[in-house]
Amino acid sequence: LRVLSLASEAVPFIKTGGLADVAGALPAAVAPHGVAMTTMLPGYPGVLARLGAQYPAPKSKRAKAAGPKVIHEWEAIFGHPARLLAETLDGAADGAPLLVLDCPVLFDRPGGPYGNEAGQDWPDNGLRFAVFARAAADVAGGIVEGMEFDLLHAHDWQAGLAPAYLKFAPYGGHSIPSVMTIHNMAFQGHFPAALFHQIGLPASAWAMNGVEYHGGVGMLKAGLEAAHAITTVSPTYALEIREPHFGMGLEGLIRSRGAQVHGIVNGIDPAEWNPATDAAIKSPFTVRSLAKRQANKRALEAEFGLDRDDGPLFIVVSRLTWQKGMDVLAQCIDHLVGLGGRLALLGSGDAGLVGELSAAAARHPGRVAVRIGYDEALSHRMQAGGDAILVPSRFEPCGLTQLYGLAYGCVPVVARTGGLADTVVDANLAAVKAGAATGVQFAAVDYASLSGAITRAISLYSQQDVWRAMQKAGMSADFTWRQSGAAYAHLYRSIALENSPA
Ligand code: ADP
Ligand code: GLC
Repeated sequence: LRVLSLASEAVPFIKTGGLADVAGALPAAVAPHGVAMTTMLPGYPGVLARLGAQYPAPKSKRAKAAGPKVIHEWEAIFGHPARLLAETLDGAADGAPLLVLDCPVLFDRPGGPYGNEAGQDWPDNGLRFAVFARAAADVAGGIVEGMEFDLLHAHDWQAGLAPAYLKFAPYGGHSIPSVMTIHNMAFQGHFPAALFHQIGLPASAWAMNGVEYHGGVGMLKAGLEAAHAITTVSPTYALEIREPHFGMGLEGLIRSRGAQVHGIVNGIDPAEWNPATDAAIKSPFTVRSLAKRQANKRALEAEFGLDRDDGPLFIVVSRLTWQKGMDVLAQCIDHLVGLGGRLALLGSGDAGLVGELSAAAARHPGRVAVRIGYDEALSHRMQAGGDAILVPSRFEPCGLTQLYGLAYGCVPVVARTGGLADTVVDANLAAVKAGAATGVQFAAVDYASLSGAITRAISLYSQQDVWRAMQKAGMSADFTWRQSGAAYAHLYRSIALENSPA
């Protein structure tokens, strides 16, 4: 089965969050199940640079030979010249295929994938991702000779129009079925109605079952309406988004799709996240050599300038946003320190939260330290050296940092929501007795619940045998892509079969 996976970010090319980890890992996850996946990304500067510094202006014949292949050129998509480059995800000749939409005016700009260096959204994001989706629908429809697909898999709003193009305006009249995955319902891609007239959809698409949403263009909504199946990244989130609080306006649509909505939990990529082989950490370890973690804890204390002691060291690796409950975390820091805990935090995001967290660090020198920024290698050292990772999210479609924590013996303390509820086994009495507990869950994201969970975690930590058992249970659990890769492959097959021309 040949699947075109359409995402606005993918590791190792471009990452702002978990979507990139998932889109980057999916091809290898589904390959053992007979799915040949090609990933398509926009040509941001970082992506083009990775494809070869000589691109886009090859200086010598040799450089040109080494660069990516141009496999299609559009005179213009909605006014913008574009071409399609072919490479592989890992750069190896036999790696999973990668297609890059090179449309310099829209994508080759400094800043992030969605906004400028100051963090403001690009004003033309609607057009940018409409062009991306249109190009993907062209590829799905066979615009590149010799390249065919059986199914298109669209991730998040940035890819949401692709299923709509397949439905309302397929290239050459050739359509294939599609699957739409929601990684986060909070980002829906709403744009003014005027956009509709620039993006080449027929009038019939301006409808309830099309792209129209509250008088504008809704890109995620369009994808959810047009796709043959919907998935989201955990079973619990698949249920939660049926309700207004989590569905954020799209709960009715989700409910109307009934059994076509599936929750498939994310896995982690063992090539990137394995404490036995992780090149980023000082002292690699396994579930059988947990004592070696200690050297990582010492290194982490030193790196963050924290006191050296044997009390619990909490970590946080997070976008600093309301979703992640970072305001509530800030309120609980004095409590955590009062019980003898320490905290090392890595994150970037809202200026207000940066201020509150930095102030907490200033109040508690040696006990609390924050690093504002984005640092992949440091995030590995933190998972390897921390005792517990705090994830107090108000909602969390899946969450990956708790999975990394489980794999690294860094016990997760999580809000009971979405994928956090599905992947962490709370240390209640029965679970502890059975040796099944892997972390601590708490219900409401507020001061009382989170500070209670911190108290509970510290008390469990003081029972070293119980704590060890929790670490071991987490490290022994299977959070690879094995099961979820099979689940996606199964879904692709059933959708492709149901929708194959008779
Ligand atoms: P989300 O995608 O909602 O941010 P996830 O938990 O799914 O949440 O994924 C977040 C990913 O980004 C993880 O791989 C995490 O380690 C990483 N991450 C988040 N913030 C940082 C940071 N400041 N530095 C390094 N990695 C980070
Ligand atoms: C989103 C969600 C996160 C999920 C990630 C990958 O960013 O916020 O919970 O893990 O997508 O699916």
